[in-house]
Amino acid sequence: MKSLVVFASGSGSNAENLVQYFREHSSGIQVKACFCNQPEAGVIRRMHRLGIPTIVFNKSFINDKGSFEMALSLFQPDLIVLAGYLWLFPSYLVEKYRNKTINIHPALLPKFGGKGMYGDKVHQAVIDSAENKSGITIHYVNEQFDEGAVIKQVEIPVGTDDTVDSLKQKIHRLEFEHLPMVIEEMLR
Ligand code: GRF
Repeated sequence: MKSLVVFASGSGSNAENLVQYFREHSSGIQVKACFCNQPEAGVIRRMHRLGIPTIVFNKSFINDKGSFEMALSLFQPDLIVLAGYLWLFPSYLVEKYRNKTINIHPALLPKFGGKGMYGDKVHQAVIDSAENKSGITIHYVNEQFDEGAVIKQVEIPVGTDDTVDSLKQKIHRLEFEHLPMVIEEMLR
């Protein structure tokens, strides 16, 4: 059984989708744990409902290399997925899990990425710049926000009638479809 560990800071719909997808598909992959840096985040309730152990941590815990590495290694991750995780992934973890840590970004990088570009801000920026397409980027995590090598991008058209909410919904649908498949391909 391959082990997935998800890092999330927000609502956690991608985390939930991964748990359910890998429960329903006999791909030998399981979400073993969720790490969350935001005590109020919706993802905590979702994971509780699904029976997934969730570790809520703060800056001092993740900056404590020895302790945090030990906590993470309890789940023996074959792949770490950042799904709406807002802090920079620390360099000691990037190094230890290089090419085993991926992020999903709700736009076509390298545009609309970097520090502070997350959630609705991304979709608002896409609409403000009158882009005629957006999409998702799944990429490896390196020491910079949103700069690791791209694994997969999927585009969708953006219409003049699109709003932040409509775009967000379309992007989430793409994420739910493609993120599990990319993970399956990587862990095969
Ligand atoms: C997703 O759109 C993902 O691309 C981005 O943050 C969002 C998280 O959404 N990194 P959710 O918490 O999974 O609902």
